Amino acid sequence: MKQQDKPIYTVPGNKEKSELLKAKNAEALHGGGIARIAAQHKKGKLTARERVDLLMDEGSFQEIDKLVVHRSKDFGLDKEHYLGDGVITGYGEVNGRLVYVFSQDFTVFGGSLSETHAEKICKIMDMAMKNGAPVIGLNDSGGARIQEGVNSLGGYADIFYRNTLASGVVPQISAIMGPCAGGAVYSPAITDFILMVENTSYMFVTGPNVVKTVTQENVTAEELGGASAHSTKSGVTHFACANELECIRHIKKLLSYMPQNCEDIAPVYPYEIQGDESRPVLDTIVPENPNHPYDIRDAVKGIVDEDSFLEVHENYADNIVVGFARIAGRSIGIVGNQPQSMAGVLDIHASVKAARFVRFCDCFNVPLLVLVDVPGFLPGTDQEWNGIITNGAKLLYAFSEATVPRITVITRKAYGGAYDVMNSKHIGADLNFAWPTAEIAVMGAKGASEIIFKKEIAEAADPEAKLQEKVDEYTSKFANPYMAANRGFIDEVIMPFETRQKLIKAFKMLENKVDKLPRKKHGNIPL
Ligand code: HXC
Repeated sequence: MKQQDKPIYTVPGNKEKSELLKAKNAEALHGGGIARIAAQHKKGKLTARERVDLLMDEGSFQEIDKLVVHRSKDFGLDKEHYLGDGVITGYGEVNGRLVYVFSQDFTVFGGSLSETHAEKICKIMDMAMKNGAPVIGLNDSGGARIQEGVNSLGGYADIFYRNTLASGVVPQISAIMGPCAGGAVYSPAITDFILMVENTSYMFVTGPNVVKTVTQENVTAEELGGASAHSTKSGVTHFACANELECIRHIKKLLSYMPQNCEDIAPVYPYEIQGDESRPVLDTIVPENPNHPYDIRDAVKGIVDEDSFLEVHENYADNIVVGFARIAGRSIGIVGNQPQSMAGVLDIHASVKAARFVRFCDCFNVPLLVLVDVPGFLPGTDQEWNGIITNGAKLLYAFSEATVPRITVITRKAYGGAYDVMNSKHIGADLNFAWPTAEIAVMGAKGASEIIFKKEIAEAADPEAKLQEKVDEYTSKFANPYMAANRGFIDEVIMPFETRQKLIKAFKMLENKVDKLPRKKHGNIPL
């Protein structure tokens, strides 16, 4: 090689080296560039970095893999590189507690998932597993990086696999803050909680165009898979948030009820016992007429620490209420039949909703409080043909295998199989209380009388009067908690006003409960 053909390298000094690092860091901060950031803002969306800043305690976020770039060479990608490759990953603190986060950057190839983008996510998931802390995913992505083909699909599968392995080990929370389509939906679906932002996020397996071709339905992306559809119709999302700020606030609040991992317990908030902790308002909740509705959330709010109730799945299957709360500063999970919706009956959706929640609580050592007012399982062909048997069994199974402290309070009806399912003593509940208004029986008095006194009623001079007489007889004998209390199926019949004080003491007593399932690989929940 001739002297003049040699490339001329200048060896940088330390000052230039520092300048280079500064320049690279500055470049990484701009994602896909100013114009794309402006377009993101114009859609009413924050950037990936702005979201991380809002989520994390100030100054706590430590970014990893900021300088990663994709390795793709096809379709001109060899000429287009963005530092970080469309996802910001790292760790930091939320309310002083360690979390791992990934935040997809829509300004870089639409947040699409390349092989390297996936590797970054997998890296922090592996760290989260080793170090026992939650993973928060802020999703905003056009799906698989189309130019990368199967490399991208492989990247997704690597994430799904880790989501599954991490399930029950560390809490996983997914916020959907933009598109999430195709197979990409399955990562959030495996995580513990999904939050969506109204009007700017959607999730679907196939979008409106494919839907139109296949089923001839005309539907918008929002109608098909927006926050409203998934929080009310499908139950895919647990929280529909008005905007991104509310979404981030919800994530922080949600985290406050859960431990860092399955070996840990949720943070205990300082609480000083106040007097006898009686709550007279609870005496006024159950109406005089046993067929009148009431809002079980009034009972919940009367029992738990003030303003501590966070309802999950608020707008889905509202015949059952589930959510987190604190009692004397300690996190609990609550499941309650809701008499003001379909009389609190258990149907397919309610069973699945509650079963999933119970399993989360059991995975992460959150004790359970179950409030029962249930007339039974919903009858009908729709329910039977859609599998109320299998789906109802999920709730039975979830309660039965839960080893966390479990307490039940029967406020009114506990009929039939639903009595057994709703955390009865027989399936392992630790303490079962009933209010004097409880009715624990095989079925309602009228239905029962019509069956067992059929002949007597038919032969009576006045069948209606006879039926009423039998209903009254059945009611006075069975529509109360005392038969169950006589057998020890109910540990104590308590006045509503004393429920809170009883529960504070009971949960404290159960604090060190140790219960183990028989050794097995894993159970076979009726999916
Ligand atoms: C590469 C992508 C991309 C993708 C978007 N972009 N999606 N690049 N791979 N999947 C790029 C665009 O080229 C554009 O680049 C920028 O991101 C913004 O996209 P726009 O279309 O301008 O934005 P918008 O109008 O808001 O529409 C967003 C969108 C649309 C709805 C997400 O981009 C879209 O439909 N993308 C394709 C979605 C898709 O079919 N993905 C594959 C699904 S299959 P410039 O340079 O202009 O900024 C899948 C399989 C996963 O994901 C399977 C897992 C098992």
